[in-house]
Amino acid sequence: MENNTYPFVNLPLPYDYNALEPYIDAKTMAIHYDVYLQGYIDKLNQTISEFPELQLLTLEELIVGSVYLLEALQVPIQNNAGGIYNHRMYFNGMQEPSDRQPQGQLIKMIEAQYGNLDNFLYAFKKEAMGIFGSGYTWLVFDNARLRITTTANQKNPITLGFCPIMALDVWEHAYFLKHYNERSSYIDDWFQVINWDKANENYMECIKKPII
Ligand SMILES: [Fe+2]
Repeated sequence: MENNTYPFVNLPLPYDYNALEPYIDAKTMAIHYDVYLQGYIDKLNQTISEFPELQLLTLEELIVGSVYLLEALQVPIQNNAGGIYNHRMYFNGMQEPSDRQPQGQLIKMIEAQYGNLDNFLYAFKKEAMGIFGSGYTWLVFDNARLRITTTANQKNPITLGFCPIMALDVWEHAYFLKHYNERSSYIDDWFQVINWDKANENYMECIKKPII
């Protein structure tokens, strides 16, 4: 990931705001990217602006290492560094809708573990529907297997030793303008814009990492 150390900047969205229409609307994308993600970036930069030693750390190191810091720093770093990491994974994990069938090693692993892609999506949606309040649903690599997991707010699964493959933001700000309070229809629509090539790329990186 580029721009992985202080000062953090909001990299250009890799597609147009309206690229995910009709599944995710342009207005939601613009507000989500330019206001919410920018907000996390500004707050993290501000939080570590007076701590040169923290400015040397990568986003991942800030997230994992923040547990060793005093609460006054730990909480804003976890919220805002997590907010950046999680949103980047969510936005980079989508693309304009396509009829192309997902391909690659990740899909083979999904089929091996879940039987077929539909079974996997059913299980993923069930987890996403079960999140109380705000959070994310993740596909992660854990101990040589795929795992669907969830995190509250801006918590991140790398703190649990998992390697993230894809992320679904289920905060209401991700869907309220178009889907109102219907998380279920938002999830169905998000399934139409998953960037499976990007997820496969992340999976290939994850399987190279040593098991801890
Ligand atoms: Fe979000």
